[in-house]
Amino acid sequence: MSRKLKNILVTGGAGFIGTNFIYYLFRKTNFTGRIINVDLLTYAGNLESLEAVEAEYGTGGTEGKAGRYVFEHADICDGKRMAKILRQYDIDTVVHFAAESHVDRSILGPEAFLRTNVTGTFTLLEAVRAYWTDKDGKFRDDVLFHHISTDEVYGSLGKEGYFKETTPYSPRSPYSASKASSDHLLMAYHHTYGLPVTLSNCSNNYGPFQFPEKLIPLMILNMQQGKPLPVYGDGKFIRDWLYVEDHNSAVWMIMNKGRTGEKYNIGGENEWENIRLLEKLIEIVASQTGKSVDSLKKLITYVKDRPGHDRRYAIDCSKLKSELGWKQAHTFEEGLQNTVEWYLNHNDWISHIRNGEYTKWLENNYQNR
Ligand code: NAD
Ligand code: DAU
Repeated sequence: MSRKLKNILVTGGAGFIGTNFIYYLFRKTNFTGRIINVDLLTYAGNLESLEAVEAEYGTGGTEGKAGRYVFEHADICDGKRMAKILRQYDIDTVVHFAAESHVDRSILGPEAFLRTNVTGTFTLLEAVRAYWTDKDGKFRDDVLFHHISTDEVYGSLGKEGYFKETTPYSPRSPYSASKASSDHLLMAYHHTYGLPVTLSNCSNNYGPFQFPEKLIPLMILNMQQGKPLPVYGDGKFIRDWLYVEDHNSAVWMIMNKGRTGEKYNIGGENEWENIRLLEKLIEIVASQTGKSVDSLKKLITYVKDRPGHDRRYAIDCSKLKSELGWKQAHTFEEGLQNTVEWYLNHNDWISHIRNGEYTKWLENNYQNR
């Protein structure tokens, strides 16, 4: 099966993975349709990341088919606004990245996670249900709602085993509980109303444009600035790392060829203890900056653990590989080298989002509709 995917609503397109997804579609695929990026621009959303897309594909852009990229500053919890956007752009596909995404923040303040991840997803589902059905409640046959989720919904693994699509949900943080709720709502809309959906659950992503509160960008920038490198607990927590472009190639493949109503795990098959990962990152930063490995190692500081910290995540993505023929295209070495290089060369982007200048940039460069 191959879907049309013409007018795509990307939610959270100004965040880390959504931004990379928009670049991926315009630059690395044969996508010929239009992208409507709906983002509330929370602290994690940054339109500056998409300046090149706006310049080439925005209305008034330089690309032949200018107008293939549109930004809508909107909250996914605003049902009326979502309904209007669906109608205005004749949306046939939703790919839903928008979320509160940082586990530590969810521990400090869970409410925003419930609002955006649960109520926001519910609001979007209701909006497409109304827009995509005829008067008998039957769905158009050219529509798809793809929901982006996380491996964290499965809980925590011991030394052995992998998360499979059939692993029962066992979320353990407010973040993962809110994402699990959104997955359940999605599947409930599929089973109850027949909404055409696909769902993907991915492991830890890394790469350009990630807000520097997450492990890899935070550590790179702290090394650059000679700040402590905070390692939670004993540092032996394990994550399965995937380069963001490989996540997005999988999402695009599922959207094009995945079976409706199915969920697919996406992973790097690349497990690292946090402390070992940090040592690897230190070597790469040292080689790119000329700082000594020893001086960077001295910055490692063990700190109090994250409450409820999941010990190990590891994804079994054999379904995606065997059914759709996906595979990772980037080695960890290559992906980390690119990422370090990107952060070391984007000081403006980093300082803008860290010190609030981004808000000023937004006021000067973007007229809210
Ligand atoms: P992010 O925090 O970098 O970006 C989230 C984006 O959503 C931001 O641009 C933000 O402004 C926007 N947003 C937040 N609330 C909104 C609202 N109410 N209305 C409209 N927009 C809103 O997140 P990310 O790391 O890019 O993650 C994207 C998705 O991928 C999330 O659903 C996350 O759960 C999932 N995911 C992330 C990872 C990872 O390693 N980062 C791994 C697996 C799955
Ligand atoms: O597994 C997918 C998930 O990966 C996504 O759903 C989340 O949106 C994403 O934030 C990420 O969650 P993690 O909690 O795994 O990522 P984080 O980068 O916050 O932490 C990675 C590991 O590093 C984790 O074991 C906690 C640890 N850590 C993190 C930070 C920020 C530290 O030791 N020190 C730190 O300063």
